[in-house]
Amino acid sequence: MRKKIIAGNWKMNYCVNKAEEFVSQIKDTINTDEVDVVICPNFVSLDRISDLIDGTNIKLGAQNVFYEDKGAYTGETSVNMLAAVGVNYCIVGHSERRQYFNETNEIVNKKAKKLLEKDISPIVCVGETLEEREESKMFEVVEKQVKESLNEIDKNSIENKVVIAYEPIWAIGTGKTATAEQANEMCKYIRDVISKMYDEDTAQKVRIQYGGSVKPSNANEILNMSDIDGALVGGASLTNDFVAIVNY
Ligand code: 13P
Repeated sequence: MRKKIIAGNWKMNYCVNKAEEFVSQIKDTINTDEVDVVICPNFVSLDRISDLIDGTNIKLGAQNVFYEDKGAYTGETSVNMLAAVGVNYCIVGHSERRQYFNETNEIVNKKAKKLLEKDISPIVCVGETLEEREESKMFEVVEKQVKESLNEIDKNSIENKVVIAYEPIWAIGTGKTATAEQANEMCKYIRDVISKMYDEDTAQKVRIQYGGSVKPSNANEILNMSDIDGALVGGASLTNDFVAIVNY
């Protein structure tokens, strides 16, 4: 039985004080062991949020990382730096990073592998554009993203550490959610790809989230689909709606 994982991707929102205030306000209501709950604030808030959720079941996630260990990489953050402040998960390959910062599957793969070296779980994002869906290329596009982003990652990591997030780009921040059936169809397809890359047992163990306009009114339906193991929540993770989604 795969445990659900619900993560809040705050993106570039909330300064440190506001981040602390918000987490203090909601933490008791999202502190559960029925699902894995992850909060992904901005880098500068990680350390303080880490202290704040210490002793709860809530996990800390980062939104990005660099794949080199250290050195002259101005503006970048290493996996060791994340580990040192208690980060458990890290989003890699979010479509916004692919779009605005030219992240390729190869870069996503390097980041995911580096995170696994330090025992941080990568949340690997994949998803097609509206144009690709309209041209019925979505399965092909997502399959390539999954294969290249997970290249050479061992079976044990896929089963126990890696989380895949299917986020159709046309559903992100648009209020336009994929139907539960569309989301489930792609999550199932991704599971089939994992089965081909590894084996059926691994495919049954890997956790696959859906992301894109998840809100309290659709969370229950989405999270009850056969192949959807959680949600990666953007806008709604910045408000009390996140509490409702965690308690779907
Ligand atoms: P929204 O929930 O705001 O659509 O964002 C989804 C997302 O990009 C989460 O990573």
